[in-house]
Amino acid sequence: MDNNFNVLIVDDVVENIQVAMNVLKEENYNLSFALNGEEALSLIKDTGFDLILLDIMMPVMDGFSVCKNLKADDFTKDIPIIFLTAKTDIESISKGFELGAVDYITKPFNPDELLARTRTHLELYKGKLLLAQNNLSIKVKAEKEKERLLTELEKNQKEIIYILAELTETVSDETGKHIKRVADISRLLAYYYPSLSDEDVDTIHCSAPMHDIGKIAVDPKILHKPSSLTAEEFELMKEHTTLAHKVLKCSDRKIIKAADIIAMQHHEKWDGSGYPKGLKGEDIHIYGRIVAIADVFDALTHKRVYKDSWTPEDASAYIQKNAGTHFDPTLVALFMEHVEEFVTLAKI
Ligand SMILES: [Fe+2]
Ligand SMILES: [Fe+2]
Repeated sequence: MDNNFNVLIVDDVVENIQVAMNVLKEENYNLSFALNGEEALSLIKDTGFDLILLDIMMPVMDGFSVCKNLKADDFTKDIPIIFLTAKTDIESISKGFELGAVDYITKPFNPDELLARTRTHLELYKGKLLLAQNNLSIKVKAEKEKERLLTELEKNQKEIIYILAELTETVSDETGKHIKRVADISRLLAYYYPSLSDEDVDTIHCSAPMHDIGKIAVDPKILHKPSSLTAEEFELMKEHTTLAHKVLKCSDRKIIKAADIIAMQHHEKWDGSGYPKGLKGEDIHIYGRIVAIADVFDALTHKRVYKDSWTPEDASAYIQKNAGTHFDPTLVALFMEHVEEFVTLAKI
């Protein structure tokens, strides 16, 4: 057994300390002593003891008070205390155990008994510490694993969203990395919007790629038509918002719920002239209002089958011109304030 234990003997009579030390020295413990309760308490605060042999009758502060003090302190409450005393009355023995001592040895003691009991309580204490350490490392490992799995799940979820979104890109008339750019532009705009949290910013970044997911269910002839759509075709095209809602509304997951809002509302307009519901102003969810700007800005700055790309200056002028009609004017102001950053994102 590893005997590298710190044992403290507290007694106001030096001879008693010497007797106990003589007995215990054969175990090679690190032995310390204190001649009164106060000295003991200050020593214990500085050194981490593994066991305390405590006399009861001492001047200034008796052993019971020392024990009470140690048990009341989180740092010292688990150190095993053995009363080593000449007090042999039942009341004192009971009081000693009541105060939390692990053992009670009366003087004069049998050296073998002192050795055996000390050894037993040190082993027990060591075992308890090891168990606590193991439990802690199991807990830490479990926490780390949980974190790893959550990150993995989140990564998987994001990847699936991108796969689905890119599928939309391939069936619709989008070119290049429109979906990724809309997500990045939306994230930056959300970041500048004062009342949105970091969580909102992340949610919008993850959900924005799904804004046009309903196009998967729109007739490809309409999606790929190089000329302008007839009124009837346009009505069918508008359905990509409600078609997405039909599928996404079934989820309780934060990102999918946000994607549902975005897919439904990214064509709503601030003045109520948008679709599918003709929502107005702040009745349009902030996620929808943000993606509306990101979607139009990116679409304008890139070539489509039916149009050439606009310069960033023309596209941002368009956004500004439509503040209060198509777009949320507060968002447009933020967009214009940081327009250079949005232009950079649109060029990626
Ligand atoms: Fe759309
Ligand atoms: Fe789009």
